[in-house]
Amino acid sequence: MSASDKRARYAEVLDRIERLIEGETDEVAVMATVACELHHAFDRFHWTGFYRVVSPGLLKVGPYQGGHGCLTIPFERGVCGAAARERRTQIVPDVRLAAHHIACSSSTLSEIVVPILDAQGEVRAVLDVDSNDLDAFDETDRERLERICALMSRAIWGGPENG
Ligand code: SME
Repeated sequence: MSASDKRARYAEVLDRIERLIEGETDEVAVMATVACELHHAFDRFHWTGFYRVVSPGLLKVGPYQGGHGCLTIPFERGVCGAAARERRTQIVPDVRLAAHHIACSSSTLSEIVVPILDAQGEVRAVLDVDSNDLDAFDETDRERLERICALMSRAIWGGPENG
């Protein structure tokens, strides 16, 4: 997919998500809808879903599409843990070179994880997208997925202020 096709696809999916979740404040309904829309928008998205902060320092799997995902991830483990801990998007172009990566599926080769912050700047969840392609995610993915996460947070957690 060319860079301009990718941007156009994100514009479509962002527009659809905005319309679908308008007025919706239920976390599961919003996460399930976003996971479904993103997963089916891009062939290179092989696992698309959420981990939720359920207690201090602990992530539990949320709505997702793809093969089964690990159920529990402490903040000190995995790429998801790093995103939650550092409150910063993580892009891993080759998971075989990332010692902290948790392999839920042996076919995953690259991933992106975006933290989702509430109005107080606290991490409430992360969006995790895994691909069976190497180096599947770039700055366009980061920027657009961060935008989608900010939109979700405004719908369900009132933030982030600057999102
Ligand atoms: N790869 C993630 C774990 C979650 S799954 O792959 C669905 C990580 O390293 O945090």
